[in-house]
Amino acid sequence: MSARLILGIETSCDDTCAAVVSEAGEIRSNVVSSQGIHDRYGGVVPEVAARRHLELVNVVVDDALRQADATLDDLDRIAVTQGPGLVGALLIGIATAKGLAAARGLPLCAVDHLQGHVSANFLEPAPFEPPFLCLIASGGHTFLAHVRDRTGFAVLGATLDDAAGEAFDKGARMLGLPFPGGPAVQRLAADGDPSAFDFPLAAGVPGLDFSFAGLKTSLLYRIRDLGEAEATRRRADLAASYQWAIVEALAVRVERALRQTGLRRLAIGGGVAANAALRERLGAIGVELAVPAIDLCTDNAAMIAGAARFAEPLSAADARTLDAYATGQRGL
Ligand code: KG4
Ligand code: ZN
Repeated sequence: MSARLILGIETSCDDTCAAVVSEAGEIRSNVVSSQGIHDRYGGVVPEVAARRHLELVNVVVDDALRQADATLDDLDRIAVTQGPGLVGALLIGIATAKGLAAARGLPLCAVDHLQGHVSANFLEPAPFEPPFLCLIASGGHTFLAHVRDRTGFAVLGATLDDAAGEAFDKGARMLGLPFPGGPAVQRLAADGDPSAFDFPLAAGVPGLDFSFAGLKTSLLYRIRDLGEAEATRRRADLAASYQWAIVEALAVRVERALRQTGLRRLAIGGGVAANAALRERLGAIGVELAVPAIDLCTDNAAMIAGAARFAEPLSAADARTLDAYATGQRGL
């Protein structure tokens, strides 16, 4: 009898990820190899990421199987991220998944990375059932989704420029902090006063869209106006105020979306969902809040394998010709 296990592979950015998830949504393993080689450039270098995925992917897949106490014989199907993301990086995961599927005669599921982030909420041990509002805020994307079922979502609003994680990363760089910036800003902000500086909340952007470009520029000017010595002395206050502005800009749109849709249930995902100030702020809204474990918020393959539980496998012909896409299918 088949063990009904799904192997997920995710290589859309700089993390090489593989995971084994059961048909019931139980995570048997979830391996993430963070490349850690992009820090010196202050951001992810696509070609470097792709080459590193190539070196790591087979080891990471082996690790995921070993940790799940499974072999290729136990797999029911293979799931892989098709996009959006860095095309060169995605193609390494896709080629690996295609090879395994063809060699073992297994069905292949192509998963949208953003559907993966939403689907992290459906995994055991605490699956969150639709309908709900979902805020996804990562290094590459920031959007609000109305999730009506487990197979898709409607985009209610999205960033017009930078993603929230990008705002954290770029702000961190201006403050002399390492990449990725979110955790570093959060640490520094703990010693600062969030009301020390006023940063813009993109109040002029109506509806449910986001904008973080003005905030980033505002930090740049503020540091310049303070001068190097004073900006360094007040780094913690700058970090705390900057973080507060990002969190508030996100939270205001979440509140607006809850009002507009009448939904009373909220889920969050993407790397920025790991932020403690954001979790606290959204927790205070008073609706039912689902916060996946941090390793399910940041990029991982369990969410990809999990999404494949509710997706149709590709036909053999479509599996053979599967290609990556850089930008999302919903205009994201
Ligand atoms: O979802 P993710 O791992 O990868 C993408 O798909 O982009 O998100 C990474 C982003 C980075 O911009 C990082 O700075 C941000 O998530 N991040 C955080 C925190 N941890 C990660 N931002 C704020 N606070 C955190 N604790
Ligand atoms: Zn992501």
